Amino acid sequence: TGTTVGIHDLSFATTEFVLPHTALAEYNGTPIGKYHTGIGQRSMSVPAADEDIVTLGAAAAAPIVARHGADGIRTLVFATESSIDQAKAAGVYVHSLLGLPSATRVVELKQACYGATAALQFALGLIHRDPSQKVLVVASDVSKYELDSPGEATQGAAAVAMLVTADPALVRIEDPSGLFTADVMDFWRPNYRDAALVDGQESIGAYLQAVQGTWKDYSEQGGRPLEDFSAFCYHQPFTKMAYKAHRHLLNSAGHDTDEAVVERALGRTTGYNAVIGNSYTASVYLGLAALLDGAEDLDGQTVGFLSYGSGSVAEFFAGTVVPGYREHLRTEAHRAAIERRQPIGYDRYRELHEWGFPTDGGDHPTPAGTTGPFRLAGIGGHKRIYEKR
Ligand code: CAA
Repeated sequence: TGTTVGIHDLSFATTEFVLPHTALAEYNGTPIGKYHTGIGQRSMSVPAADEDIVTLGAAAAAPIVARHGADGIRTLVFATESSIDQAKAAGVYVHSLLGLPSATRVVELKQACYGATAALQFALGLIHRDPSQKVLVVASDVSKYELDSPGEATQGAAAVAMLVTADPALVRIEDPSGLFTADVMDFWRPNYRDAALVDGQESIGAYLQAVQGTWKDYSEQGGRPLEDFSAFCYHQPFTKMAYKAHRHLLNSAGHDTDEAVVERALGRTTGYNAVIGNSYTASVYLGLAALLDGAEDLDGQTVGFLSYGSGSVAEFFAGTVVPGYREHLRTEAHRAAIERRQPIGYDRYRELHEWGFPTDGGDHPTPAGTTGPFRLAGIGGHKRIYEKR
């Protein structure tokens, strides 16, 4: 259609608490090098009992609505794999907390960590159809594995909100996309569990297979050559995974893996993920946030996005950074969201990990914890009760 479409604004929120990996390592006897160097993680965001995907999602999206107003937002797509209801979309609560107009369509999307990219692609399609519309994409997740499991060190939580529009101020998203789907059981969460099940090494292999598959399809669809890209935002279940993935992409495309080139392509995308942990659907867009918020001017540069969701579905696509984007960033607010987290020790983390509403179907208030703008006040009559603070 000739219309440019993409990400007009991006804002993220994370949790009240943070657990440094040094505290986990001290508790379980793991050499800290395994966490800091081996998986590339420094700390993990830990939600208060009264924080969840809704409160985080609303906190991420509120500054976007404050800056642009709700005018023109006719669709809100909420992507998550840590859903809080089997029927109702979490986005409906966010719609209400943000006071969006009733003339809005709201839906929740799920395909593990890939969901936010599906949401973004659907948003782009809607905007191509009617460039006067805006779509609010909210990606929000709490990553939870069993205590004392190998996945535990890769937990985290955050939400990214993106306003997707025509003539965007931050990143123009391009066609084509490279696509890949394979039915694998590398990571999943049955309905009766709140912690995910994962086959760690299998999941790394499945991710690498998906990287190769999406790049192959992207090339066959007439995508850009590797040389065009100045940086790559990968899904980062832990930051070192992006390095494994990029080396695999380069090798499978017949390129050498010069470590300086790999570092140049990825190093600017890992800053937020290293201190927040895995935020599942939000992770790849936290990578973009870190890249944009960094010191370097990216005017006109091309960025590759590799979104992977276990199970598995992956997509590779390109975006170009819009000249002048720096005037529209939220770098200060993003750094503040990370710095405002209160450090907790292992015992408090364990308590929060084990906390959950009693499953008796009764009414229960939530213990107070968050100092964020929204909280889950409790459950009453089987309904989750949210409030503005
Ligand atoms: N100093 C430095 N490095 C060390 C070290 C030390 N003392 N000890 C170990 N290491 C290194 C290891 O060599 C290894 O690095 P390489 O992979 O480069 O060889 C790294 O630290 C991790 O060590 P292990 O592989 O032994 O770790 P593990 O098996 O205990 O756990 C994990 C790793 C499997 C990723 C685990 O954290 C896990 O299960 N995580 C959850 C699943 C996951 O994140 N999978 C990623 C792909 S799936 C996906 O992307 C979707 C999603 O979001 C879940």
